Amino acid sequence: MSPCKDRLAISALTLLLAVNSVAPASAADEPPALDIAGAMRASFKDKKQATLARLEQDETQRLCSAPGGALSPADASRIVEINRATLAGPSDGVYLGDHTAGERVAMTGSGLQWNDDPTKPNGGNCYACHEMAAKELAYGTLGPSLKHYGKLRGASPQMLEYTWNKIYNSNALVPCSLMPRFGHQRILTEQQMKDVMAYLFAKDSPVNQ
Ligand code: HEC
Repeated sequence: MSPCKDRLAISALTLLLAVNSVAPASAADEPPALDIAGAMRASFKDKKQATLARLEQDETQRLCSAPGGALSPADASRIVEINRATLAGPSDGVYLGDHTAGERVAMTGSGLQWNDDPTKPNGGNCYACHEMAAKELAYGTLGPSLKHYGKLRGASPQMLEYTWNKIYNSNALVPCSLMPRFGHQRILTEQQMKDVMAYLFAKDSPVNQ
């Protein structure tokens, strides 16, 4: 080994020893917890219908935002329990509306943003996350494909109820689901939910072609 390389090896060893001899951090050395909610409250502003009230988390959102991201089995059961309690079927017991109106709900992404007209109905934006009709080329893949939904699954009372509940409040079935809670959070009206149900189930809907 040349003297030069030797010196390099020694300084690398010194560095290693120095790193290893650093005392483990005590609680007092830890950086302060970030006040993310505080930073958001200080920097966001009310803008028309998009008010700071939207920063208030409900219990589900609080549990699903816990630091570390790991959801305990007890918290998962709690989320399902509180969201199941919100479920409500269609008031007249009829699950299916008009599939053409439902296609508009599935394709429309506007609503609830500060610059949307609050007197206009919100969209469901289903295509942002799901493939639905085969003829539609633009869709997101965060959620599973719903192509041929009714054709593949049939329209038994159980399947209608399951799908309605999923759209009404996805967290009643999958804790911390990424899918919006359309009925529970009044994003869609009952009629819009019926129409989007028909879009999924009707034999002559583009979803089932
Ligand atoms: C932000 C993304 C997102 C949007 C928007 C969204 N979904 Fe979902 N959806 C998901 C995800 C993710 C799943 C699967 C995992 C879960 O349940 O959370 C899912 C699951 C489903 C399922 C259950 C599928 C199965 O295999 O049983 C149905 C039905 C469904 N979505 C319908 C809809 C409809 C109808 C709309 C529009 C009104 C919609 N989704 C909007 C993300 C989304």
